[in-house]
Amino acid sequence: SPPLRILGIETSCDETAASVVLRDESGRGEILGDVVLSQLEEHSLYGGVVPEIAARAHVEALDTLIEEALMRAGVTLSDIDAIAATSGPGLIGGLLVGLMTGKAIARASAKPLYAINHLEGHALTARLTDGLPFPYLMLLVSGGHTQLILVKDVGVYERWGTTIDDALGEAFDKTAKLLGLPYPGGPAVERAAKSGNPDRFSFPRPLVGEARLDFSFSGLKTAVRQAAQSIAPVTEQDIADICASFQNAISRTLKDRIGRGLARFKEQFAGTVEHPALVVAGGVAANQTLRATLQELCDRNGFRFIAPPLQLCTDNAAMIAWAGAERMAAGLPADDLDVAPRSRWP
Ligand code: KG4
Ligand code: ZN
Repeated sequence: SPPLRILGIETSCDETAASVVLRDESGRGEILGDVVLSQLEEHSLYGGVVPEIAARAHVEALDTLIEEALMRAGVTLSDIDAIAATSGPGLIGGLLVGLMTGKAIARASAKPLYAINHLEGHALTARLTDGLPFPYLMLLVSGGHTQLILVKDVGVYERWGTTIDDALGEAFDKTAKLLGLPYPGGPAVERAAKSGNPDRFSFPRPLVGEARLDFSFSGLKTAVRQAAQSIAPVTEQDIADICASFQNAISRTLKDRIGRGLARFKEQFAGTVEHPALVVAGGVAANQTLRATLQELCDRNGFRFIAPPLQLCTDNAAMIAWAGAERMAAGLPADDLDVAPRSRWP
């Protein structure tokens, strides 16, 4: 495939993002310009993302961000080979803003449009950052998703496991809320856990030992509530101990669940994949305890553990542009301009 320069747009949740990415003849990726505007402050007052506020903020910021991304890349629209915009899954108002903007630019500049699945963006990021060959395993752990995915080829994915209730980031956020810690909960719980005793509370580890590769985290939140209610008054040390024990339960759960996934990968690709790899993505991938757990698990099982730089683990438009580039280079067709956004899209 010739070199491709793709403009990416991401508006599925609470970051507005635009990026220009290059995919060269040999398939190597380079981020030429990348801007992300987080709406964290707009939503923190409400303890979560408010869809209507998010959609309006995307409208206000997106045009300027796209111009900024092009400028930082040192290109104009005429240098761009295609537009890639997230079209699901996510909050429908935000998706409409990004996808309609992408369509308008594609129409006005007569360039192809790729309507990208946000999860595909996360799934292919390790090829942009590390040039990882197919196949590999990817663990996506964010506020909205907890999935273990086999990434076989561009557009060819198998979901091996998913959460049957809360996403992992959601469990962190709900636990923080229960304990009176600030939003977003993940960083707050991790901070508190640093001075806590991880063995003080024995929290449940649902589905551990089961053959299927799914996750469940809602019971954990209930156990945290009960632990907090059983102590009065709750001291700062109690909160630290609860947070540390909560992370400990998650580590042990992931060790079991992901451990089984690695074993299945080795079984399926025995002798054909020389360097098996596990990639992590999503906001929860910022958590040091989780990273250490996965690193150890990979070391023990002969897997490479790949954690892309944090700003590429969380939501961004470079991964969307890259997914567009990969689809185009693979010869997959562009989308029609009547393509509709999808709030749900497995
Ligand atoms: O990928 P992301 O930025 O946004 C989406 O959900 O799409 O992920 C945000 C989630 C939130 O639930 C947040 O609490 C969690 O990632 N998170 C963390 C940490 N930093 C962010 N969870 C645990 N430990 C962290 N250090
Ligand atoms: Zn995401």
